[in-house]
Formats: sequence, structure tokens, C-alpha cells
Amino acid sequence: MAILKIKPSNNLDSLPPYLFAKINKLKLECYAQKLDVIDLAMGNPDMPTPTHIVDCLCDTVKHHKSTHRYPQAKGMPKFRRAVAEWMGRRFGVELDYNSEIMSLIGSKEGIAHLCMAYLNVGDYILVCDPAYPVHFNAAVLAGAKTYSMPLLEENDFLPDFTKIPESIAKKAKMMILNYPNNPTAAVADDPAFWKEAIRFCKKYKILLISDNAYSELIFGENSSPSIFEFPGAKDVALEFHSFSKTFNMAGWRVGWACGAKQLLYPLEKFKSFLDYGVPTFIQLAAVAALNGSQQCVKEQAAIYERRMNKMVDGLNKIGWHVQKTKGTMYVWAGLPDNLKKEGSLSVAERLLKETGVAVSPGAGFGKCGEGYVRISLVTHDKRFHDALLRIKKFTLNGK
Ligand SMILES: Cc1ncc(COP(=O)(O)O)c(C=O)c1O
Repeated sequence: MAILKIKPSNNLDSLPPYLFAKINKLKLECYAQKLDVIDLAMGNPDMPTPTHIVDCLCDTVKHHKSTHRYPQAKGMPKFRRAVAEWMGRRFGVELDYNSEIMSLIGSKEGIAHLCMAYLNVGDYILVCDPAYPVHFNAAVLAGAKTYSMPLLEENDFLPDFTKIPESIAKKAKMMILNYPNNPTAAVADDPAFWKEAIRFCKKYKILLISDNAYSELIFGENSSPSIFEFPGAKDVALEFHSFSKTFNMAGWRVGWACGAKQLLYPLEKFKSFLDYGVPTFIQLAAVAALNGSQQCVKEQAAIYERRMNKMVDGLNKIGWHVQKTKGTMYVWAGLPDNLKKEGSLSVAERLLKETGVAVSPGAGFGKCGEGYVRISLVTHDKRFHDALLRIKKFTLNGK
């Protein structure tokens, strides 16, 4: 049978395979060899969705047949109202449920499509390095050019806006920030940082995207804001939220975008040509998540904090360079001196093949991610103990 030789688009062709697809392939090979894999690569929550949310879904699907029909693409009013009320309770910000909130099939979908809705071929977008890969890859798929803002340890993994050349700032159309941050686990709790970001974007007429997928994974008395807590944010910013990590609903595919109607509308219009929105029964379960007790969220954050302490203490004892964090579900681990030269990709591959511990190579999140691996805190205590023992042996052996 003849196979047509048709190449995919240049934009798609220019991207390497998605970081996790590559690691997943390696993991499958390890499973095939019956290796006991401890999977700390993907930020895929191991804890189940709270029971009251699952119960709401089951009851709705079973007893409310109208929810089997096409949903309202931008989100049903009940969903948008619940989001507006939650944003009000959580951050003290006011959003109009009618025009300033829309549902998403997860924030990954929303951010990727926002890039396509706004960016023309050759437009500039300011993205952090390292970053959640979708932030730069979605821009590349839209044909845009990315300008990297390095997130360096000595700057608490915050971008330095003063280092962006004026010529680039003038050309840039969008900027994406993400705090609490994936992969560095940094939390931006200083209002001065957000005020400066807003001032900068206003000055250069840049659409500022705040990816707030980890807003609730905050430890103890620490805090993490919504961008809309700061004056003038609604003039320039959109914020993206997710149920995936907050309520362990990663597989449910639901999130939301919020901000001023004029800034949000292009995303709604773009999506109207692509999808029909989040299934109604999922939206109603998401409402149960937002309106129900938030105790489960607090308990879950405490579990991640305990895991983080265990992993960071364990790694530092065996020669790695790791800081404690204020939030997220990640440890951003600087490689020990004897592994640094080898590079994060090779270290991650060997660690998986030789010990069965899967982590994400820092280089997969951008050039500035080299020298680190990201460890997701997505397994229970006993497995952490095993993982640390294996990493210790691996580290002592060196290359
Ligand atoms: C920074 C960041 N934004 C967005 C997402 C995607 O979340 P969702 O499951 O809502 O698509 C992730 C997932 O890991 C993430 O790390």
C-alpha cells in the first residue's frame, strides 16, 4: 500500500516530541522489562478526587439526562457563578460571571488556544525559561517567536524585567508568568513583583497571562495571590486556573480563564470553532468542588509539604543542591557536582533505566533548566524512601 509522503506543518515539525511523551516511551520500555518503576516524572496527582465531587458526578450523570447533551461552550451560568464566588472568597477579587469567566477543557487547552487566538506569525511572546512546555510550544505552533526570560536561582526564580531589551519589549504582544511555578516550585508572594509586571505590560501594551494552576498548593501560612488583587490588572491581564491539582481532577479536564470581557473574547471566539466546551456533568461536579468545604485542599497541600520536606532533606544528605519550597507539588533539584557535566537528559534517562526512578530532565523545560531535574511529589511515603535509596546508590556510582 502506498503511503502518501505529506509533511506536517513547518511549525509542528519544528517542535521536538512533547517532553512527557519521550519519558513515557522510556517508562513503557522499563515496564516491559518488568522493572519496578517509581514514577516521579509527570505532575500527575496520585491522590483521588474527593468523594463529594465524585458523588456529584455519578448522581448527575445518572439522574439528570439533560446533562448528556452538548454543553454550553463558555460554561453554564451556574459554573461561572461558582467560579466568580470562589475567586471572591479566595482572593477578594470581583469578576462578572457573565462576561469575565469562561470554562476550559483544562488550562493547558486554554493557554494553547489563547496563543493561537492572539499571535500572528512572527509576533513576539515573552516566556520564562524554564517554563511549563506549553507556554513556549503553543507560541511556536502559532508561528510566533519566543523571547526567554531566565528564571535563575539567585533571583528566586523570578524574571528580571529590566533585562528585557526595549526593542523586544516594544515588539512583544504577550507575556506568560506562572506562580506558584512549574518546574522551579517558586512562589511569587511579593506584591511588588506583580505590580512591576503589570506596569511593564501596560507600558509596552503587552497581554499579561498569569497561569495560576497551582494557586492552592501553598504550604502552611504562605500565600500566593491572584493577579487581579493588584490595581490595573484587569486592563492588561488574563488569569488561568485549573481543577487538576487543586481538587485532584487532572483526568476530568476542566479549568477556567478569567479577566476583562474584551481580552477574554478572542479565546471564546477561537474555541467556538474548535470545541463544545466541558461536559455539563463535569461542570456541575466542578461546582460541587468550588462550593464544598475546602478542607480537602488544605489537607492535600499539607501532604505535599510533608513529601517535599522528606525529598529535599533526603537529597541534600546525598550531595544534591535543593531548596525547601513554599508550594507546588515539585522539587526542582540541582544535580550534584559529579552528575552536572553529564546533563539532565542523560541523567534522567540513566536514572530511569538503571534504577526505575522516573524524573523530568530540567533541559526539557528550557535552556536554563539544564543542571536540574524536576521531581514530582506524586507517590506515598514508603515509595519516597525507596526512591531516595535508589537515587543515593545512583549518585554514589556517578557515571
Ligand atoms: C503551569 C501549568 N499550567 C497548566 C497546566 C495544565 O493544567 P490542566 O490540567 O488544567 O490543563 C499544568 C499542568 O501540569 C501546569 O504545570
